[in-house]
Amino acid sequence: MTHTRTISGRVRIAGVVLGILWAGSAGIADDDPLFAKSRGIAATFAENLQAALKEAMASGGPVAAIDVCKDLAPAIASELSRESGAKVSRTSLRFRNPGNAPEPWQTEVLRMFNDSDTTKEFFERTENNETRYMKAIPTAPLCLTCHGSELPKAIQDRLARDYPHDRASGYQLGDIRGAFSITWPDPVNKTRH
Ligand code: HEC
Repeated sequence: MTHTRTISGRVRIAGVVLGILWAGSAGIADDDPLFAKSRGIAATFAENLQAALKEAMASGGPVAAIDVCKDLAPAIASELSRESGAKVSRTSLRFRNPGNAPEPWQTEVLRMFNDSDTTKEFFERTENNETRYMKAIPTAPLCLTCHGSELPKAIQDRLARDYPHDRASGYQLGDIRGAFSITWPDPVNKTRH
């Protein structure tokens, strides 16, 4: 299903069902190279993080794996940003780290993901010629140890210490935990400045 919104008279937003290939008829997304690139970056981010998380949980246990989320997730984001020239991050309506708090436009998209059963991806070019992409991150079984409703005591203690304002627990399997966000600066202004 496609979600569209008009900005400056042009259709600029397209959303698709998670896991189903883009079959868009409206808008620019399906043949915009930044759409494909953004998707690729989000997929790489997800794969790298999940692999590191699984390994850390298996070798050191969930408390040790907290450091993967704390240190490795931002490191992967920085590396992907550096490689691509885009700003790559994770965000959420109920964030654990206030540094991941959404900007107003991201809040809007996250709400749309929550409200829609089908739209889990977002793409638009703004009036300032910035290109924005977001992809919803579902809560998988692996995530519940640290984001579910019954967290092990050791996890609770560690989170209380490192994240005193944590809002990122109480999620159920399949809930939208947050989203990857990828923003590309205006290519013209970027070369001018
Ligand atoms: C070992 C514990 C642990 C596991 C397992 C875990 N997370 Fe996290 N998660 C954290 C911590 C800690 C943070 C805060 C990271 C930071 O400081 O940026 C976090 C942050 C996040 C954020 C960034 C937004 C925020 O809340 O600050 C997202 C999105 C997220 N996790 C999704 C997931 C998903 C999806 C899974 C399952 C694939 C998962 N996490 C598994 C501990 C965990």
